[in-house]
Amino acid sequence: MTTVGIDAVEIRTGNLKLDLPETFAPEKGEDPEKYTKGLGLHASSFPDVYEDIVTMGANAAKRLMDRKGLEPDDIGRIDVATESAFDHSKPASTYIAGCLEDVYEGDFHHANKGERKFACVAGTQAVDDAVNWIQAGKNRGRAALVIATDTALYERGDSGEATQGAGAVAMLIDEDPSLTSVDPVQGFGSADETDFLKPNQQFPSVDGKRSMQVYLARMREALQDVESQRDLHPDDFAVVPFHIPFPGMVRKGAALGFRHISRGTDVEEELAEEIGMQPRREDFEDDEAFRDALTEYTDDLTGTDRYREWYDRTVEPTLGISRHVGNWYTGSVHLARASALKEAREGGRDLDDAEMMVCSYGSGAQAEIHIETVQPGWEEEIAQLNVDEQLRARKDITFAEYEQIHEVHNYDETTDIDAFTTPEEEFVFDGWGRMGERKYTYVE
Ligand code: COA
Repeated sequence: MTTVGIDAVEIRTGNLKLDLPETFAPEKGEDPEKYTKGLGLHASSFPDVYEDIVTMGANAAKRLMDRKGLEPDDIGRIDVATESAFDHSKPASTYIAGCLEDVYEGDFHHANKGERKFACVAGTQAVDDAVNWIQAGKNRGRAALVIATDTALYERGDSGEATQGAGAVAMLIDEDPSLTSVDPVQGFGSADETDFLKPNQQFPSVDGKRSMQVYLARMREALQDVESQRDLHPDDFAVVPFHIPFPGMVRKGAALGFRHISRGTDVEEELAEEIGMQPRREDFEDDEAFRDALTEYTDDLTGTDRYREWYDRTVEPTLGISRHVGNWYTGSVHLARASALKEAREGGRDLDDAEMMVCSYGSGAQAEIHIETVQPGWEEEIAQLNVDEQLRARKDITFAEYEQIHEVHNYDETTDIDAFTTPEEEFVFDGWGRMGERKYTYVE
């Protein structure tokens, strides 16, 4: 079978930054450490007045195409994953293609375009679709562009306000990829849940605490599904990127994952001297007693050197970017992969042919866990990211400015304020068309 996977990646952050411990926490009367230590977040990215899911997606795609020397004719498919769509019919991919056609020779009339929806897991589903399309031999030599783009804003006063963010990740899916191959092993955990939803409304209805339980429950099912296809061991994987609604959630997901994949292995035996064997359901009278024992075991586990070493090597490097941008919904797990590869390159870590276990999740709810293999040549590709420059260039907004920008992006309000930053060499939102469509232009 041809090797297919992620050939290139680009990251585009919203141009504004809200400092969570310094600016947001004091206004909320909260301890800044709830953000830095509890949630694991330092800042959220926000879109300026002229930014939205289309501009961020198109700007990421343009940098990717320029860098790889691509023309529209090289792309046979454009899929956008988002849960922030402003149009129930016309997919964001058509708007993005329209933007790109304004700056490139040629057009995307030959390209199949769509929009994928399943909360935050949709970005991974779009990658799967693109991989399948190429593996089915339908791509006629062309690559696919997958763009995960979101403005993750919550209603003012909602507990989710602490975890907001805005940005896009563009990925080129192709044969003989430079970054990672997407391998056939794939596990799912999927159930009809009402943890986070937007029934014809812009801002989500969220049961935050429940969504955290559902995240873990679906992840467990997806792990079991993977285990039905291959054995898993903690040392199999060099990197384990999770969907990151906030880094603190990944701390919980990682502990569950490690406990699960070390069960029945030499690692469980090795740890038994220190913290005992893992609780087994058959040894307990009821579910509650079993769950209490599991919680106690997990607390002990996360305090061991063996676990810490595993976490610091495979999970901590995936969180670096997210800590400074917040939740990007569909893009978050892809940000996690990029963050780990970036840190590995900077630290001189050899990841050639190493395996990754990629753990995606979308509320509503579905987890997908799949395996990727890092391709030789990944360092050169990941070195091209300019995310650090972008993060540094964001304007640090005050709380009053945050209140204004939140209103600008609220569809129910008409708030007309000047942009906080000056766009340069980027696509911008440029007003409304005669049928209520959003219009865009490229600013030199
Ligand atoms: N120092 C250190 N840690 C602190 C702290 C302090 N001063 N204050 C609070 N914390 C910790 C809490 O103990 C908690 O960690 P824990 O879950 O490990 O116990 C964490 O910080 C968050 O605090 P909490 O009071 O639970 O925050 P919250 O009520 O504002 O809600 C969410 C947090 C995540 C539920 C909320 O932001 C939300 O609804 N987010 C959107 C939904 C979401 O992202 N779901 C995830 C699955 S997709």
